[in-house]
Amino acid sequence: MNYAADSEQCLSRILASVDLSMLSKRDSATFVSRLEAHFPTLFQRYTFVYGHQYDCYYHLQKLVELLRDGLKARKPKLKQQDAAKLKDPRWYKGQEQTGLACYVDLMGPTLKDLHHKIPYYKALGITYIHLMPLYDSPEGDSDGGYAVSDYRKVNPSLGNMKDLEALSDALQAEGIDLVLDFVFNHTSDEHAWAKAALAGDKTCQNYYYLFDDRTIPDQYERDLREIFPQVRRGSFTYNDTMEKWVWTTFNSFQWDLNYSNPEVFNAITSEMLFLANIGCAGLRLDALAFIWKDMGTNCENQPNAHRLIQAFNACLQIVAPAVVFKSEAIVHPDEVVKYIDKKECQLSYNPLLMALLWNSLATRKTRLLTQSLKKSFVIPDDTTWVNYVRCHDDIGWTFDDGVAHEIGVNPYDHRYFLNQYFTGRFDGSFSSGVPFAENPSNGDCRVCGSLASLCGLEKALVSMDQNAIDTAIERMLLLYGITFSIGGIPLIYSSDELGLLNDYSYRDNPAKRHDDRWVNRIAVTDAHIENVMNQDKAPAGLNEACQRKVFNGLKTMLDIRRQHAVFGDARTEILDTGNHHCFGFVRYNQHGQKMLGLCNFSEHAQQVSGNILNTIEHKPARDLLSDSKLTGHEQVISLRPYQLSWWLI
Ligand code: GLC
Ligand code: GLC
Repeated sequence: MNYAADSEQCLSRILASVDLSMLSKRDSATFVSRLEAHFPTLFQRYTFVYGHQYDCYYHLQKLVELLRDGLKARKPKLKQQDAAKLKDPRWYKGQEQTGLACYVDLMGPTLKDLHHKIPYYKALGITYIHLMPLYDSPEGDSDGGYAVSDYRKVNPSLGNMKDLEALSDALQAEGIDLVLDFVFNHTSDEHAWAKAALAGDKTCQNYYYLFDDRTIPDQYERDLREIFPQVRRGSFTYNDTMEKWVWTTFNSFQWDLNYSNPEVFNAITSEMLFLANIGCAGLRLDALAFIWKDMGTNCENQPNAHRLIQAFNACLQIVAPAVVFKSEAIVHPDEVVKYIDKKECQLSYNPLLMALLWNSLATRKTRLLTQSLKKSFVIPDDTTWVNYVRCHDDIGWTFDDGVAHEIGVNPYDHRYFLNQYFTGRFDGSFSSGVPFAENPSNGDCRVCGSLASLCGLEKALVSMDQNAIDTAIERMLLLYGITFSIGGIPLIYSSDELGLLNDYSYRDNPAKRHDDRWVNRIAVTDAHIENVMNQDKAPAGLNEACQRKVFNGLKTMLDIRRQHAVFGDARTEILDTGNHHCFGFVRYNQHGQKMLGLCNFSEHAQQVSGNILNTIEHKPARDLLSDSKLTGHEQVISLRPYQLSWWLI
């Protein structure tokens, strides 16, 4: 097939029959020129996946009409943002970029209440705020909102669409972008499509994967991973009303969408454009690894999943180029990087860094971190990592077994150790995590817990041991400090900025108690905010004093980061420090700026050979965090327990 020629012909035929008269002259010209630029990609991906279906081209034409409608609906202000971001396509690489992820109800509790929190975000230097799913979803358990019943309706307990738009405007006015979830692997069983399917509508039944009996599900299930084995075994749920088995990768009320049906692609594109037109700078592609199912595979990270995401991206380039995709692929590191491309996802969570930071805290060793990042940290220059330490989910130990073997670590035993360590079952562990999704068949397990509790603050506060308290806070600042400097956008998980402890109250709530991830979904109240925003008054107690220390520590580092371009658009090289308790990296940018990041993951002082100063040409350097100086010719560099240094030349 000659894609280029076919695409050109296809586009000219589509344009000959699609009515553009409802677009202004200017929009119409923009639309056509963007189609010329991006239709070839869209065409190639779409026809690759759907070309064997007789109505492929009918749906492709319908898709172009949807794109036209999307552009028509886009507000002038957002079109200005499109133009601005197209002029500055690397905007997400700036050193000022800092994200915050939060649940509206845990910080609001409503969208309107968030307006009053803007000074707090600004104090921290937040430039983007990811509001976790705020769409209409089932009462009771809705997987924290990740079971969406209506993408176009805000959950009434949080407010309405007008409130969301008003908040987006208010944030924008203060230089803060909005990031929303695009939950497109599944809908809730209360979505209009699911309801119609339940009522027997064949068109909508084809929106999902439904099976009359277990024959096909059994064949698929041989190769599938169970995501939530603690609530339901397998990946399918029997539905009594339809008398069919439904594909439900996550919870039984989250029905996987059937992307082998081009109508589903189109319908979801329309929802995606609606979200883009609310006024957001990014869409977080939830559970994107799962959208394509191929029998005989684990149905994660399939080539067609990539093609479809690239097709979605092309649609956005045509209608709303200010909006970027953020990949949420919590999978093997070799698979994570495959989603990262200017034409696929410009941003991606970095689950490898996250997991291995925790690994280094537990083991006090940095070999696995160093070796893994040497292999997997480099991504295309026009994309960027979103580096995080904690999030609303569990921690899965998604490192590469091959790399573990190379350094003599048995990956199976090591994951077992990490689970034991962070759930506090390992003797001498400082951590108070909770086991998550233990799989009775294979012993798999993941870990939940807040930053502070996992870093040892919970235990230290119980024992009122001031040294242990300080050490726990140093651990928190170390992990975050690395995410602030290694390269990429740091994403703070709200409640971490205050070092809040695990919240066990979910165990009393029948809609939550089976899902231990709630232990790390913690409310940030006005009192918390007041405590750190108004430090003239003495803190009310020990907890409040700790919260201030964490907040001030993070804020200080972020303030420094913003002042130096080398933290932004710069390259990263991961170093061998020669001391396996220490981790190091160097950053350098095209203006000749260099920064050597060095840190110590152990509770004992450590030394690194002065040879490492090669990386900064043995020039005099200053630690931006402690203000110490180096001549550049030291024999050794000393690091205090858990110290992080940012040596700038
Ligand atoms: C993502 C979300 C998680 C959710 C799942 C299913 O992994 O982060 O919270 O359970 O997708 O939507
Ligand atoms: C999945 C991830 C898994 C995570 C889950 C939600 O996408 O692979 O690690 O725990 O979503 O919790």
